[in-house]
Amino acid sequence: MKKVLVLDGSTRKLGNTSVLLQHFIDGAKNNSGNIEQVTAKEIDIKYCNGCLRCNLIKRCSIRDDDWEDLSKKIDEADVLVFASPIYFHYVTAPLKNIIDRFRSFVHVQITETGLIHTPVKEWNKDFVLLLSMGSSDDKDAQPVIDLFEYMKKVLGENNRIHVIKATRLAVIKQVQKTEEELKELYPKLKLDENLAKEDFRKNQEILSKCYELGKELTK
Ligand SMILES: Cc1cc2nc3c(=O)[nH]c(=O)nc-3n(C[C@H](O)[C@H](O)[C@H](O)COP(=O)(O)O)c2cc1C
Repeated sequence: MKKVLVLDGSTRKLGNTSVLLQHFIDGAKNNSGNIEQVTAKEIDIKYCNGCLRCNLIKRCSIRDDDWEDLSKKIDEADVLVFASPIYFHYVTAPLKNIIDRFRSFVHVQITETGLIHTPVKEWNKDFVLLLSMGSSDDKDAQPVIDLFEYMKKVLGENNRIHVIKATRLAVIKQVQKTEEELKELYPKLKLDENLAKEDFRKNQEILSKCYELGKELTK
């Protein structure tokens, strides 16, 4: 049975990220009973202190927080889900905090021409990015996608990245609002209410993609 670990970077409960995530989890539940969800802002993860001792001891040197437990779960997961609203073209701070600690999964060697990364263990995982943003243009999420392309390079080309982006979302649970609800909401956001019909269709499609991806990756 595939193991799924969700790293939820949401800062508000019942936001659009949570809705995307719930659809992914509902899809995954068709095939797996082994789905664990961690809310980044609710666990105790210290900032990476930059000591780089992980290069020598092959684990993080910080021992007085939840990283040891979380890193074990990350290590065992087949599917690793990173869910985040886009904040200033990036993931939220609690999620970035976790990502920095991934440094301890990799040995880094400095050479004259650049860095050589060697994962401490071989990784063969599906990375899922569920990203929710306010902009109508999904380019705002590009730095996050670039980050994960880099992670794949560092952690091994066997890893696979799947991205679902949801745009033009501001208020809680907007992504699952009906066409009529969007029509009522949009003037308040100074958006043309004529966008509601197409956005409703697009949002429904995104939610069903989340569900299908959850199902597909746990087969
Ligand atoms: C601090 C902050 C920074 C944000 N930066 C961006 C941004 O750079 N690009 C963007 O499209 N939306 C941005 N947004 C909007 C959120 O990404 C968007 O409303 C998202 O759907 C919220 O997700 P949630 O409903 O799960 O909380 C920002 C919101 C906040 C609070």
